[in-house]
Amino acid sequence: MKWTSFTIVLLYALLGHSLDLNPTKLCRNIPGSQGYPDAAAWAQLNATVAGRLVDVVPSAKFCNGTCSDAQWTSALFRNTIPGAMDQPNWEQGYDLTPPSLCLRNSSNTCGQGDVPLFSVEAETVEDVQAAVKFAGKYNLRLVVKSSGHDYLGRSTAPNSLLIRTTHLRNVTFTDNFFVGGKNLGSAVTAGSGVPAQTVYQEAESQGKIAVLGTAATVCLAGGYLQGGGHSALSPLFGLAVDNALEFHVVVATGELLQVNSESHPDLFYALRGGGPGSWGVVISATVKTRPTFNATRIIPVFVAANNTAAAALATVHAEHIFDFDSVHAGQYFYLLKNSTDPNAPTAFEFITYFPNNITPEESQALLAPFLNASLAIPGVELVSMQQTYADINSILFSPDDAVGDNEVLGSRLIPEAAYHDPTKVGEVYKELLDAGSLLILGHLVAGGQVAKNADISSAVNPAWRSAKTHLILVNQWPDSTPLSEISTIRNQFQTQQLPILEKMSGLDAGSYSNEADVLEPHFQTTFFGSASNYAKLSAIKSRYDPGDLFIVGAGVGSERWDEWGLCRR
Ligand SMILES: Cc1cc2nc3c(=O)[nH]c(=O)nc-3n(C[C@H](O)[C@H](O)[C@H](O)COP(=O)(O)OP(=O)(O)OC[C@H]3O[C@@H](n4cnc5c(N)ncnc54)[C@H](O)[C@@H]3O)c2cc1C
Ligand SMILES: *[C@@H]1O[C@H](CO)[C@@H](O)[C@H](O)[C@H]1NC(C)=O
Ligand SMILES: *[C@@H]1O[C@H](CO)[C@@H](O)[C@H](O)[C@H]1NC(C)=O
Ligand SMILES: *[C@@H]1O[C@H](CO)[C@@H](O)[C@H](O)[C@H]1NC(C)=O
Ligand SMILES: *[C@@H]1O[C@H](CO)[C@@H](O)[C@H](O)[C@H]1NC(C)=O
Ligand SMILES: *[C@@H]1O[C@H](CO)[C@@H](O)[C@H](O)[C@H]1NC(C)=O
Ligand SMILES: *[C@@H]1O[C@H](CO)[C@@H](O)[C@H](O)[C@H]1NC(C)=O
Ligand SMILES: *[C@@H]1O[C@H](CO)[C@@H](O)[C@H](O)[C@H]1NC(C)=O
Ligand SMILES: *[C@@H]1O[C@H](CO)[C@@H](O)[C@H](O)[C@H]1NC(C)=O
Repeated sequence: MKWTSFTIVLLYALLGHSLDLNPTKLCRNIPGSQGYPDAAAWAQLNATVAGRLVDVVPSAKFCNGTCSDAQWTSALFRNTIPGAMDQPNWEQGYDLTPPSLCLRNSSNTCGQGDVPLFSVEAETVEDVQAAVKFAGKYNLRLVVKSSGHDYLGRSTAPNSLLIRTTHLRNVTFTDNFFVGGKNLGSAVTAGSGVPAQTVYQEAESQGKIAVLGTAATVCLAGGYLQGGGHSALSPLFGLAVDNALEFHVVVATGELLQVNSESHPDLFYALRGGGPGSWGVVISATVKTRPTFNATRIIPVFVAANNTAAAALATVHAEHIFDFDSVHAGQYFYLLKNSTDPNAPTAFEFITYFPNNITPEESQALLAPFLNASLAIPGVELVSMQQTYADINSILFSPDDAVGDNEVLGSRLIPEAAYHDPTKVGEVYKELLDAGSLLILGHLVAGGQVAKNADISSAVNPAWRSAKTHLILVNQWPDSTPLSEISTIRNQFQTQQLPILEKMSGLDAGSYSNEADVLEPHFQTTFFGSASNYAKLSAIKSRYDPGDLFIVGAGVGSERWDEWGLCRR
């Protein structure tokens, strides 16, 4: 048959209608858009999810001035508020025109900010499927949240529909987990709303241990695993995703997929480190478990009299950072200052985990050279030293997380090679402190098994495999800070701190996407390792989410969207 001009015109019209020529496809539908669901459509969704569709408000509005400080700063309490983020700055629409804020002590003048409009408080797979299909059908901005811990604000967005998976709390242990007929041994399967504290508690009663974070409410099967997941046990057992065996995921079509090395292996690759919120809604994840053991945790806390003394302590720490490698100890080394005055004191604590069934005395002996050298620094004092010997689950268990501050992070994975120049490490700390940095969080959670697992084929940033530590700079502000100053603080990592940190990390060091700066200009390589890794992830995304239903800040595909994931660029 011959193409008539009529067919061509008709085809053009049809294509034009379904492609970008239709402005409704350039942007998600928001209230007031032509394709936005009407009240009847929302009511129908609500009926489908058994009444579990709720209106969402910012946490300050929810509190209405009546929440206590203890509630405001409790992750457990904030988790009862569908609209809450643990860092309330992510609820604020600083960049909206005009800015739309909802602050704790001025909730009477609240805007909705970057908070979703509705949430499906999912309790079943079917709830999730209904919400995903609804968002697809009406071209809505969709976000997914389990704990609301996200440091990049990836679990909230303005004018969006939220799927909250916090109620998916099933936990099951098995000694024989099968993938494709092969017995992979003992494992735990956790729903995506199961907090770390529950896994630790139940694992202890089962005589098991899983690789998980030092946090109470971070969700194993939420963002933690999809970002990679580091642990005090990582030098011993690898990253959390190195231990992942299977995911159950609702993808953009609404279909529930079983994802493992045999079934949808491409998606399995992406879910292990390819960044959270970009692939579908995780219902549950299964990770390997091992027999539990007793461990020793020792926490020496020093105070350094001024920046010079704090920097000297950082140098000594770098000199001794390989001391515990033989037992694969993990360590958090946290520097906290509360004044930008270079002559103000600094607290520097070293939370050290000796996991290998070695005795407390052997642990102390491994720490002694570092302690001894630290105490020889003028102006450095040991103010306390706490020691615990117990089941590793109870050591890592925590009753709650202290949250509720406005804060943004910036970070780099520090290559092992950087620690062969301890003087440089001290110089970088000194420069960061002199520039006004108040909170520098160090994580000795790499090396050992993390390096040995380099051959695992997953989307984890390959920078992990040659890293020794992960360093985070935290920048905070009180609600009273003027908007112009908040903007400066949000950009401080890129403009001021990163150039200093790079003197130690090198220019091409990667970053751990879960504890990082959403404003990373080259997130594709900084978070995912290389342009070819990113291209591979992009191809997987186009297979499972061709319509970009799952978009998060600095996530795969986000370069096609504006800051809020509302309109294509
Ligand atoms: C107190 C505290 C301690 C921490 N400790 C560690 C640590 O020891 N090790 C470590 O590696 N990290 C740690 N983190 C960082 C943590 O890994 C990230 O904040 C992570 O994103 C949290 O995931 P979440 O699902 O709990 O948070 P959320 O804010 O709910 O979600 C985070 C991201 O995951 C996505 N997501 C959530 N649920 C789902 C789901 N069901 N399906 C698909 N996507 C989903 C969201 O869309 C978002 O992109 C810590 C964070 C805090 C606040
Ligand atoms: C959904 O239905 C429940 C129960 O019928 C109701 O309480 C709730 O207000 C409804 N949600 C919305 C957003 O209207
Ligand atoms: C909020 O609190 C004020 C008093 O503090 C009260 O008058 C008002 O009704 C409350 N609003 C809501 C929505 O609870
Ligand atoms: C808000 O008010 C509470 C008590 O009313 C107070 O404890 C808190 O410090 C105030 N917070 C801010 C950010 O002003
Ligand atoms: C949780 O477990 C119960 C009991 O086994 C099961 O009926 C339910 O479907 C599970 N929920 C999810 C979301 O997997
Ligand atoms: C500030 O830090 C110093 C040193 O860590 C500490 O002694 C002091 O209590 C802190 N002050 C406040 C107000 O937190
Ligand atoms: C302690 O440090 C001093 C120098 O400050 C050194 O001479 C001594 O050998 C150290 N002892 C141990 C046990 O490391
Ligand atoms: C820092 O403190 C130490 C110990 O108190 C002191 O010897 C040193 O002179 C101080 N350095 C500066 C630069 O103030
Ligand atoms: C482990 O530590 C507990 C104390 O928390 C102790 O009672 C128990 O005997 C220890 N077990 C082993 C095997 O050492």
